[in-house]
Amino acid sequence: MHIVHTLSDLKGHLGAFRHPAVVPTMGNLHAGHLALVRQAKPLGDITVSTIFVNRLQFAPNEDFDSYPRTLDADCEQLEAAGCDLVFAPLESEMYPQPQTFKVHPPADLADSLEGHFRPGFFIGVCTVVLKLLSCTQARTALFGKKDYQQLMVIRNMVKQFAMPIDIVGGETQRSDDGLALSSRNGYLNPTERQQAVLLSHTLKTVANALRAGTTLQPREVARLESQAMQSLSSAGWKPDYVAVRRQLDLQMPHPGDALVVLAAARLGATRLIDNLEV
Ligand code: PAJ
Repeated sequence: MHIVHTLSDLKGHLGAFRHPAVVPTMGNLHAGHLALVRQAKPLGDITVSTIFVNRLQFAPNEDFDSYPRTLDADCEQLEAAGCDLVFAPLESEMYPQPQTFKVHPPADLADSLEGHFRPGFFIGVCTVVLKLLSCTQARTALFGKKDYQQLMVIRNMVKQFAMPIDIVGGETQRSDDGLALSSRNGYLNPTERQQAVLLSHTLKTVANALRAGTTLQPREVARLESQAMQSLSSAGWKPDYVAVRRQLDLQMPHPGDALVVLAAARLGATRLIDNLEV
C-alpha cells in the first residue's frame, strides 16, 4: 500500500489504472470505514482511500480542532483491509487558496435534517467530495448509509453534474449492542457509551410501530416522532430530530413509500446520528 500526501504523487500512483474505487474518509477509522474498503475492492482496478478532515464542513462551534487524527493507525488498518493507495493531503494541498468555488446543493435535499441543524454542512461536504473524486479519478465511490442524507446528496450531485462515477452505498456497521460505529463515539465517557444504545433502540421502536401500522396517517407519524424525541429527552439526551421520511428523496412520506427513520441527538457533549430503513 502506498501513502501519498500530494496531488502530484497521487497522480503518479494512479498512473495507468482506469477504474479507481474510492472511499473518502476523515480518518480515525473503524470497522464501518473498513467495510466500505472491502466492499470497494472488487469494484475497481485499484482501491483508494482518502483521509482528510475537511474544515469546510465544520461550523465554527464544532469539533474541527479536536477531531481525532490517527493517520498511522488508520494506514495500518487500511492496508489490512486491502487498500492499495491512501491519499492523505495537508490542508495546504487541498485548499492552496481559499476555496471560493463551492457546490451548493438544493434546499429540498440539503436544508432539512442535518442541513437544518448544521447550516452549510452539505456545501462543505459536496465541495470536498467533488474535489476528492476528481483528483482520485474515481470511477466508483463508496459512502456509508450511516450518513444517509449525505449519501443521498452526493448521489444527486454526481447524477446532476453527469460525473462518470458509480455511487455505491454501504450498510451501517454497528457494535454488538446496536450503536452505529462512529469516530465521534470516542468522545463518549463509559457511562455515556452505555446510554448511547438508546438512539438505535429508539429508531427500532419507531420502525416497528411503522411496520405494525396499517395506514400511514401524517398525524400518527408525527406522534411517533414526538414520542421518540420525548423518550430521548427524558433519558437526558438533547434530540435535534427524529424524522420519518421516504427513502427515495427524504421528503415527507406518502402511503406506499419505502421509509427510513432518521435521528440526531446530543448525549453530553457528543452529537450522534443514526437511521434505520423500514
Ligand atoms: P467519515 O465520517 O470519516 O465517514 C467516511 C465514510 O464512512 C462515510 O461514507 C460514512 O458514511 C461511512 N461510515 C461512517 N460510519 C459508518 C458505519 N458505522 N457504517 C458504515 N459506514 C460508515 O463522512 C465523512 O467522513 C465525510 O463527510 C466525507 C464524506 C469524507 C467528506 O469529508
